[in-house]
Amino acid sequence: PNRSRSGAHRRPASIGASSSASADLPLRKIPGDYGLPFLGPLCDRLAYFYFEGRDQFFRSRIRRYGSTVFRVNVPPGPFVAPDPRVVALLDAASFPVLFDTSLIEKRDLFTGTFMPSTELTGGFRVLPYLDPAEPNHAQLKRLLFFLLGSRRHAVVAEFRRSFGSLFEAMETEIAREGKADFSAANDRAAFDFLVRCFFGTDPAGSRLDLDGPGLINKWVLFQLGPLLKLGLPPYLEDFLLHSFRLPPALVRADYDRLTDFFRESAGPFLDEAKRFGVSREEALHNVLFATCFNAFSGMKVLFPSLIKWIGRAGARLHGRIAEEVRSAVRGTGTGEVTVRAVEAAMPLTRSVVYEALRVEPPMPLQYGRAKRDMMVASHDGRFEVRAGEVLFGYQPFATRDPRVFERAEEFVADRFVGADGEALLRHVLWSNGPETEGPTAENKQCAGKDFVVTVARLLVVELFLRYDSFEIEVGASPLGSLVKLTSLKRATF
Ligand code: HEM
Repeated sequence: PNRSRSGAHRRPASIGASSSASADLPLRKIPGDYGLPFLGPLCDRLAYFYFEGRDQFFRSRIRRYGSTVFRVNVPPGPFVAPDPRVVALLDAASFPVLFDTSLIEKRDLFTGTFMPSTELTGGFRVLPYLDPAEPNHAQLKRLLFFLLGSRRHAVVAEFRRSFGSLFEAMETEIAREGKADFSAANDRAAFDFLVRCFFGTDPAGSRLDLDGPGLINKWVLFQLGPLLKLGLPPYLEDFLLHSFRLPPALVRADYDRLTDFFRESAGPFLDEAKRFGVSREEALHNVLFATCFNAFSGMKVLFPSLIKWIGRAGARLHGRIAEEVRSAVRGTGTGEVTVRAVEAAMPLTRSVVYEALRVEPPMPLQYGRAKRDMMVASHDGRFEVRAGEVLFGYQPFATRDPRVFERAEEFVADRFVGADGEALLRHVLWSNGPETEGPTAENKQCAGKDFVVTVARLLVVELFLRYDSFEIEVGASPLGSLVKLTSLKRATF
């Protein structure tokens, strides 16, 4: 009923596949239905989390409808989300429509069909929830570009300091206990690194001391809980976590501790906010969100994933990366790691990072609302979408699309090496845009795109400067994988 029909009489814009080819594709009605109110969304939610699991949930419907575009309810549904109905886009041809800001509105869709209370973000709708048409989107994004740019010189040294300590601690823990929890140590190293790198201050010894990661994890749970699986008994978990919002009051004291810390640590940066047209208070909550939600939680998911895929690939790949990394670092003349060496002289390392981001995109769910009536094309057909409908992309099905990638489900370490590899980069979409494009004040691509790729490569570099090879054990966790290191073989060459 709230779906606007304003562009109905206009000829729908066509998008997807390669647009010249898409005109020849058959026009199809979007298959699938939403079922009965309340019951439909509830059944879909239980299937998504428990009866089928996320990948199977989408795979079984692709088979049932013979289509990678269909209608479905996505979690959380009642009573958290007012309207769980979406059009799912599950292939590499249709997914990129979500990046087209002329066709898609991104307002309040960062976490999907519901938005967490702004009480969790100081009363502000922070940047990821803003559509580029809102005036403070560009101001805030430029402010973050300024932060990242002005601290670029600190990245390598601070990274090596935090993650060097992490690996030393891992060695001690393995010697003592036979294995070491990388995921837990990564939380602490990531937070230390981000704060030192962005603000030049140290959480240890401050009033926050070592509590940062714990406070953030709880605060993120209050925002993303309706989308997560913690591993409680299914019906209990579904009732507690997916049916209602956790009351923000229960995390207010923790958030206040984080804000106090950022108010102090980020002082000099907050002084600059006015130049960008942003109030100190709005800048504070936004820089906190970018650091703790976007950056910290992103690294929390990406780094264990990267270690997992490289770990599983085995010792032969490890040897090849170690050789590449060490000879590139020797090649700098000083033996120091430099961003230049990492960018220019490590094609395999570069490819391995892109491949991990392709095979397991850390933020897998993207949403957008059709601004007007339009056509969306998959590989096989064209579909008419109405203004106001929500489009939903489950990114792994776009970046593991067998029509684009050979051995799409496999981790192929050198997939992106060489000219053919380079040509595939436009299908790597982890940053909410093609890897061949960059974030701007006008689009919704991840503001930290280059930073993320750099730090992910630095993790590989640090690992293989120190070790010839390593072994792992992998378990599940609500956000990302739980990775334990079971051995680290010291560098012998
Ligand atoms: C947006 C992923 C790290 C800042 C996004 C989006 C994705 C993403 C998928 C788009 C969300 C959407 O609108 O649907 C990631 C991942 C990261 C990461 C996987 C780490 C592994 C960072 C870092 C920063 C950052 C380090 C900055 C310090 C942002 C901001 C936006 C954003 C500000 C909103 C952009 C806008 O509204 O135009 N990120 N991100 N992210 N990211 Fe990242």
